[in-house]
Amino acid sequence: MKVTVVGAGNVGATCANCIAEKDIVNEVVLLDIKEGVSEGKSLDMWQTAPINLYDTRIKGVTNDYAATQNSEVVVITSGLPRKPGMSRDDLISTNAGIVKSVTENVIKHSPDAKIIIVSNPLDVMCYCAYLAAKVDSSKVFGMAGVLDTARYRAFLAEALNVSPKDIQALLLGGHGDTMVPLPRYTSVGGIPVTELIDADKLHAIIERTKVGGGELVKLMGTSAWYAPGAAAAQMVEAIIRDQKRVFPVCALLNGEYGMNNIYLGVPVVLGKNGIEKIIEVKLDNEEKELLANSAKAVRSVMDVLDNMKMF
Ligand code: NAI
Ligand code: 2OP
Repeated sequence: MKVTVVGAGNVGATCANCIAEKDIVNEVVLLDIKEGVSEGKSLDMWQTAPINLYDTRIKGVTNDYAATQNSEVVVITSGLPRKPGMSRDDLISTNAGIVKSVTENVIKHSPDAKIIIVSNPLDVMCYCAYLAAKVDSSKVFGMAGVLDTARYRAFLAEALNVSPKDIQALLLGGHGDTMVPLPRYTSVGGIPVTELIDADKLHAIIERTKVGGGELVKLMGTSAWYAPGAAAAQMVEAIIRDQKRVFPVCALLNGEYGMNNIYLGVPVVLGKNGIEKIIEVKLDNEEKELLANSAKAVRSVMDVLDNMKMF
């Protein structure tokens, strides 16, 4: 079984490495346009196999889509990352062209692949890939919620001095500052989080989560890669092992949550067929308003894509 990661930059290389270490596929193909980069990084990673004890072969290629033939899953990370002062939405003019052409090449060689988009602005890049791939939306979706909930869970684990393993959380909406973390659907070892932490501390954690990506851009001068790469690899594992994991994933809504024709983060069941089910949780009025606000922000970026007249 083969998985391809497009873009051998910070996130793509980390993701490929995480997938290889899981030892769940025969081959990971890492593809980039920059000559030698994916070949070099793949060789370096493969030389960790005798240390980290896995069998997955990692093959680096420069723009050679024939090598990606019949991939089960393709992760698309190609595109510019943010620099300090930029929003994710500032990336659209460059990244939409990259995501469109990469998706067309991917689907030509792997028509049945499940495609996980990582490139930003995430929700609209998912839409762009969906339009380019011309396949069922259950096979084209995005990674953001797994990362954003991981940030939320990590902050909570620190504040409560408990294991992050025991924190379950849900987050809806776009991958931007309007994302909607849901304290009502957050628990610690089965205990509602609201029973364990003061409201003002929880509020501060939620606000920090919303700008969690920006916090890292400010510190590093570019966007994060360890947690994003690991999050995408966790989604790959759910598909390859048909785990039916329940994750927040950026999915195309067709009536769910009262919305149509928009990619937004919602809980789904992720298995060998990609998105096998979108789960609709009950929302109170405030949560509904926050989700509508997030959808409005995503739609405004979708308008920018529409105006580019690429489709
Ligand atoms: P990076 O600059 O380190 O890597 C991007 C790679 O894409 C480069 O190696 C570049 O050569 C390659 N590339 C550009 N055009 C290409 C093409 N047509 N075909 C193949 N490869 C191509 O950037 P990084 O940090 O890896 O981020 C990648 C993207 O992921 C950015 O758009 C970033 O904003 C996004 N991101 C999204 C996250 C999420 O939660 N969804 C989290 C972190 C990053
Ligand atoms: C992140 O959240 C920038 O989307 C990227 O780290």
